[in-house]
Amino acid sequence: MYNSKMYIPRATIIQDIEDLTYDTKLFKLKFKHRCDCDNSSESDYEPGQFVQVSILGAGEAPISICSSPADKGYFELCVRDAGLVTGAMHKLKKGDEIGIRGPYGNSFPTEEVRGEDFSFVAGGIGLAPLRSAINYVMADRSEYGNVTILYGARTKEDIVFADDLDEWAQIDGIDVHVTIDKPQQGWTGHTGVVTTLLDEIRSMSRRRCFVCGPPIMIHFTVKELLDAGWAQENIITTLERHMKCGVGKCGHCYIGDKYVCTDGPVFTYSQINALEVEI
Ligand SMILES: Cc1cc2nc3c(=O)[nH]c(=O)nc-3n(C[C@H](O)[C@H](O)[C@H](O)COP(=O)(O)OP(=O)(O)OC[C@H]3O[C@@H](n4cnc5c(N)ncnc54)[C@H](O)[C@@H]3O)c2cc1C
Ligand code: FES
Repeated sequence: MYNSKMYIPRATIIQDIEDLTYDTKLFKLKFKHRCDCDNSSESDYEPGQFVQVSILGAGEAPISICSSPADKGYFELCVRDAGLVTGAMHKLKKGDEIGIRGPYGNSFPTEEVRGEDFSFVAGGIGLAPLRSAINYVMADRSEYGNVTILYGARTKEDIVFADDLDEWAQIDGIDVHVTIDKPQQGWTGHTGVVTTLLDEIRSMSRRRCFVCGPPIMIHFTVKELLDAGWAQENIITTLERHMKCGVGKCGHCYIGDKYVCTDGPVFTYSQINALEVEI
């Protein structure tokens, strides 16, 4: 944890800001001071974990870490302007200060899939947490098998991490497919929602698949994989719930007998099924 005093945000400086799309920015962040409570650094997290971002006068919001722990000396957040906190964050400049609590939650089982072939299916900004896992795998490429990445965005202007997608596609054993929902001038790639790319992996039911995106995209991706005979425990996805504390105290994210903030946000479909929640 970046700060052992769990409710106290740690002062963090914006080192860089990049526009990813018209409403989404990438923030490169570094702690202002070394922690006086432990030796935690910017890379002390696991792919899939999130932080609580606080902006003075706006509040707090949970945001997934989208860089990889293999990146040292900084961490990154991909933030869409969706409301009070994220809107305030979009108004900040390089050198400004924000508060960070965390990292919180569990992580994608990137250690368990060492030596295996597997795939990622992402929709929209859902590529952000998966990017952390993908770059973690890429940093130790020889330890992992073949990887298929399927990514869908509404329009070409909504594609996030276009440079990363191009870079991953150049790597041996990495198969990248990108689609946008409808034909659009200037787009020569695949069109159709991301589930129209699932033929690329449908027959790979013994492999694991990491799925992240808007609820509707997760719903239909999981349904199609189950229909194709995939085991529930091979489908790994994330649940998004309104959160306040992020540390299992306030009950805002409670579903079934689980707290999404501490037991999740990463769950296998078999775990989600046991919670009896609709996804
Ligand atoms: C684990 C986790 C990881 C996440 N990772 C990311 C990430 O990497 N990047 C990212 O951009 N987002 C991420 N989110 C989503 C983000 O936390 C939410 O969008 C959050 O609400 C943004 O806070 P805000 O204050 O900016 O928006 P809010 O002001 O809370 O508004 C967010 C949305 O909720 C609606 N809303 C607000 N209040 C109400 C109300 N009273 N009734 C009905 N609707 C309301 C708004 O209209 C808006 O559409 C993540 C969420 C979780 C749980
Ligand atoms: S956000 Fe408070 S218990 Fe999960």
